[in-house]
Amino acid sequence: MRVMTNKNAKPFLKWAGGKTQLICDIEKSLPKEITKSNFTYIEPFVGSGAVLFWILNNFPNLKKAVINDINEDLINTYKTIAEKPKELISILEVLQDEFHSLEENEDLKKSYYYQKRGLFNLRKEERSVQAALFIFLNRTCFNGLYRVNRKNEFNVPMGSYKKPTICDGENILAVSKAFQNIEILCGDFEQTLSYAKENTLFYFDPPYKPLNETSSFNSYSKDEFNDDEQIRLRNFCSKLDDLNHAWLLSNSNLNFFDALYSEFSIQRVEAKRSINSNPEKRGILKELLITNNININEKTLY
Ligand SMILES: C[S@@+](CC[C@H](N)C(=O)[O-])C[C@H]1O[C@@H](n2cnc3c(N)ncnc32)[C@H](O)[C@@H]1O
Repeated sequence: MRVMTNKNAKPFLKWAGGKTQLICDIEKSLPKEITKSNFTYIEPFVGSGAVLFWILNNFPNLKKAVINDINEDLINTYKTIAEKPKELISILEVLQDEFHSLEENEDLKKSYYYQKRGLFNLRKEERSVQAALFIFLNRTCFNGLYRVNRKNEFNVPMGSYKKPTICDGENILAVSKAFQNIEILCGDFEQTLSYAKENTLFYFDPPYKPLNETSSFNSYSKDEFNDDEQIRLRNFCSKLDDLNHAWLLSNSNLNFFDALYSEFSIQRVEAKRSINSNPEKRGILKELLITNNININEKTLY
């Protein structure tokens, strides 16, 4: 049986720092010289991929996309969707039916959730089951957070959604179809350099530097992304600039970055944060959108 889907693929996870709100500003800052012809798109910190999906749906002349993230469970989920969407859907359907059948009984729901969380943390199931558990936890946990302890154990408590969608089969098939010409990598952001070709655009959305120590939300992975890492990323961006590759980068609105990226173009844009456990901090915030404004024609003149 051939399953057809014409639906636009969209992010299948809730993820801290999801970039849907910034897409208008990102669109205005794109280097048109690059995106108007065949180009390669590279996203080294893909997370839930809000910008990736927007690019896949809006640029038919995209030649190839390369995505990367250091989170192995996340990348296993991307690969499973690309390679075994139907197997994944059938496991998710069972998880969804079982979870929804407990709707009336909070205690049973909780023990089901914590049993699946424990199973996920053993990391002994086969890859498609691990991917399904990852999506299940993301849809049912508190605020869709991803947080692990130093032992890489997912430790977010259950959320309070009544009947969350755990299996969106139509979207999984649409994502799988959209992923046919995509390279999916797992590791440090620097490894993406070897995939850059002549007409390449990078979009970086690294873990943000916290506005202050108490607002810190930096636990996407067991390794911390501290100031030294932010500096290593800037050095990588400078290297891309020297190699004539175009990039855009977002980060938090801090003077630290004005100094770090002083030789590049820095804009302040409005971003509405949707994942914050403190409702008072869910308002409008400014973020930085930094670009190297590469213009291929101009650069090659020198
Ligand atoms: C701000 S999130 C990206 C959000 C994403 N743009 C979205 O729309 O959901 C940052 C991502 O960087 C990943 N990460 C952290 N350190 C990394 C590293 N050294 N190399 C690659 N990815 C890393 C985290 O796992 C996380 O998924």
